[in-house]
Amino acid sequence: MLLEAKGVAKAYQTGERPFKVLEGVDLEVREGEIVALLGRSGGGKSTLLRILAGLIPPDAGEVRFRGRPLRGPVEGMAMVFQTFALFPWLSVLENVALGLEAQGVPREERLRRAREAIALIGLKGFEEALPKELSGGMKQRVGFARALVVEPLVLLLDEPFSALDPLTAEGLRGDFLDLWLAGRLSTRAVLLVTHNIEEAVALADRALILQGSPARIGREIPIPLPQPRNPRDPAFRALVEEIYQILTEREVVERHLEEELLRLPDASVERLMSLAEAVAAHGGRTDLPLLAEEEGLEVDDLFPLLEALELLDFARMERGDVELTPAGRAWATANPKERQAIFAEHLLRRVPLLSRLHRELTERQEIPEERVLEWLRELPLPEARRVLGVIREWGRFAGLLGYDERSRMLYAQNPPTQGV
Ligand SMILES: Nc1ncnc2c1ncn2[C@@H]1O[C@H](COP(=O)(O)OP(=O)(O)OP(=O)(O)O)[C@@H](O)[C@H]1O
Ligand SMILES: [Mg+2]
Repeated sequence: MLLEAKGVAKAYQTGERPFKVLEGVDLEVREGEIVALLGRSGGGKSTLLRILAGLIPPDAGEVRFRGRPLRGPVEGMAMVFQTFALFPWLSVLENVALGLEAQGVPREERLRRAREAIALIGLKGFEEALPKELSGGMKQRVGFARALVVEPLVLLLDEPFSALDPLTAEGLRGDFLDLWLAGRLSTRAVLLVTHNIEEAVALADRALILQGSPARIGREIPIPLPQPRNPRDPAFRALVEEIYQILTEREVVERHLEEELLRLPDASVERLMSLAEAVAAHGGRTDLPLLAEEEGLEVDDLFPLLEALELLDFARMERGDVELTPAGRAWATANPKERQAIFAEHLLRRVPLLSRLHRELTERQEIPEERVLEWLRELPLPEARRVLGVIREWGRFAGLLGYDERSRMLYAQNPPTQGV
C-alpha cells in the first residue's frame, strides 16, 4: 500500500455555514497501479487530491503515505495540474529544476536531472524556451517533467489533459502511458483525476467514483483490460457504458437530498432543446456515450442537461440510455409556442422554486431578486447566484416572468396557455 485515506472529511467556510465537500472518504492506492478518480464537476476531486498531496489538511480522518501519517507535502509525491502552473519568467529548464530546489539538491545535479526529465517527456531542445513560446501540449509536458524530476513514488494528476485539444491530449496521454508501461518511470502508482470516462478506461486499472454531497467514494470499477487497449474493442465499450451508467444513476439519487433540491442544474433552455431534439431524432431513446460523441459534449457538459430533462419529466435515464417521456417527445417536436407552454407547465409542476416564485409574483407583481437569494441561503453564495441565473433563464423562456437588470427586480408575466 502506497497511499491510503481513511474517513477523510473537508468543509469550506462559505456563507452562513460550512459547506461540506468531502465526508468519510476511504481510498487506497497500491504499488503498480493507475487509479482513476471520477466525479461531477465541483464534486471535490481537486480538494481530495490536495489533501492526499499534503497541501491542505483534512478536517477529520487520516492520510497515510507508505504507512506513515501524512503531515504535509512529502518528497515521494508530486502533482501535475490542469492549468500547468508554470512560472512565466523561468525557462523550461529552470521550471523543471525548481522541483528539486526544495529538496536541497545541489545546482549541478538539479540541472542534469532536469535535462533528463525534459528529454524523457519529449522536450529535448526546448530547455531554454520560455513558457509563452510553447504550445499548450508542450507546456503540460513541462508540467509532467517538473513532477517526474523528483522521481516520485506516487504521481497525482489533476485533469492534466483536459485543457488540451483532443489530439494533443491523446499524444501526451499515449507518451505518458508508454513510459509507464515500459517501466521508465520511478513512479510506482498514479492517481488520475479526470472527467473523461474514455480516458479513465484507456489508462487505469480501476476507477473510483466520487459521489454524493458531501462526497465519498461510492463505487469502484475494476478495468481488467490488457494494454495496449483499443477503444473500439467491445470490452472497452462495455466498461465505458458501465461507468456512464453509474455516473447517471448517481445524479438521480442525489436530487432526493434536501439541499440538492435547490441546486438546479446548469442547463440553458436552448441546449436542453437541442439535446431533446437529438434524442427524438434517434426515435426517442439512445445510448449516452453515443449521444455525447454526436453532440460533441464531455460528460460534465452532458450531465446537467440530462439532469434537467429528468427534473422536468422530459426524459428518463435507464441503463446507460436516455429515453424521452411522452411529454419530452411532445416538447422536442412541438412548434415554438407549444414548446413554451409545455415548458411552463412542467416548470410549475416539477420545480418547487419556480412554482413558489410564480405564486409570489402573482400576488405582488414584482419582487427583488435578493428575495430569491434568501430562499437559497442554504447554498454557498456563488452557487445560489448560479441557481438564480438558471431560474431567470428558465422562467423567462417559459414566459412566467420578466427581469429588469437595472432594478434587479423579477416581475410577473401572464403564463401562456397550452392550446392543445
Ligand atoms: N478554497 C475554497 N474555498 C471555498 N470553497 C471551495 C474552495 N475550493 C473549492 N471550493 C468548493 O468546493 C467544491 C469542490 O471543489 P473542487 O475543486 O474540489 O471540485 P472538483 O471536483 O475538482 O471540481 P472540477 O471538476 O470543477 O475541477 C466546489 O463547490 C468549490 O466551489
Ligand atoms: Mg478540480
